Amino acid sequence: MKQDLLSFKDWTASQLIELLTLAKTIKANPKAYRTALDGLSIVALFEKPSLRTRVSFDIGINKLGGHLVYLDSQSNKLAGREDVKDMGANLACWADAIVARVFAHSTLEELAESANVPVVNALCDMYHPCQAVADYLTIAEHYDDLSKVKLAYIGDGNNVTHSLMLVGVALGCEVVVVTPKGHEVDPEIVKLTQSRATEFGGTLTISNDVDAAIGSQVLYTDTWLSMGDNTPLADIKDIFTGFEIDEALMAKTGADYVMHCQPAHRDLEISGSLIDSDQSLLMQQAENRMHGQNAILVQLLANDFIAK
Ligand code: CP
Ligand code: NVA
Repeated sequence: MKQDLLSFKDWTASQLIELLTLAKTIKANPKAYRTALDGLSIVALFEKPSLRTRVSFDIGINKLGGHLVYLDSQSNKLAGREDVKDMGANLACWADAIVARVFAHSTLEELAESANVPVVNALCDMYHPCQAVADYLTIAEHYDDLSKVKLAYIGDGNNVTHSLMLVGVALGCEVVVVTPKGHEVDPEIVKLTQSRATEFGGTLTISNDVDAAIGSQVLYTDTWLSMGDNTPLADIKDIFTGFEIDEALMAKTGADYVMHCQPAHRDLEISGSLIDSDQSLLMQQAENRMHGQNAILVQLLANDFIAK
């Protein structure tokens, strides 16, 4: 039966660890996976812009011997032309998998239901699972024991935050989420993360106070305005004052490293000088997008290859 990757909310700790191990193996020995997707074609459908996701999937699939077809709904006017379920069923006639960046999570669910090939979430309103794989791969490259890592996300509670929470507690991390009032994460995701923390051993703290990040090894932030949110920056800038990550906050919390999924806005949610500093893991995260996604694709499409 085909397997989709829409979120990690039902993945166990051992499944996540296996995926990270596969990503490390592929990263260390890419030549061994050069034909993993031999003869396979993957459609990448984007309702929103992208730099990292689009390019890392395209180049990553190429490195695995597969082929990517890019569909951009902005230039091709896909949206509204036909029902999502008809689009999914048609794409599955030719493609071996569908990677999709969409506005609504329900669009991914419709695609997954109508297409009898794996569907991979390349970001939606609720989750960014491919980002979370790259992020924990990056953290694991700096810390052998994830159960000793305190990761504090500071900023707007969003899709990236949800995936960091769901995956992080399963890997045993102490995850702290600090947002201004009114920008908290989804309460259903908090409940689900708490139950995963009980099952797998990590912890989750939700706060509106930046001091909750003190003692973290890693600070993480994201844009204050996600794609599709047309709120003028001027309307929210004051709300996020005090939630910016800069050198002073790194010193106050004692954090070793800073992370950001990017695109980043210099001197808004993160200081430009910190992005350029030795404490920045941003480019390592960006590189690991490709290795993490290649592990996902090998797992979903070339399982026999893993056993080889
Ligand atoms: N982090 C991330 O998904 O970047 P893009 O929006 O450029 O793909
Ligand atoms: N939260 C951001 C992430 C971009 C990669 C957004 O949805 O726009």
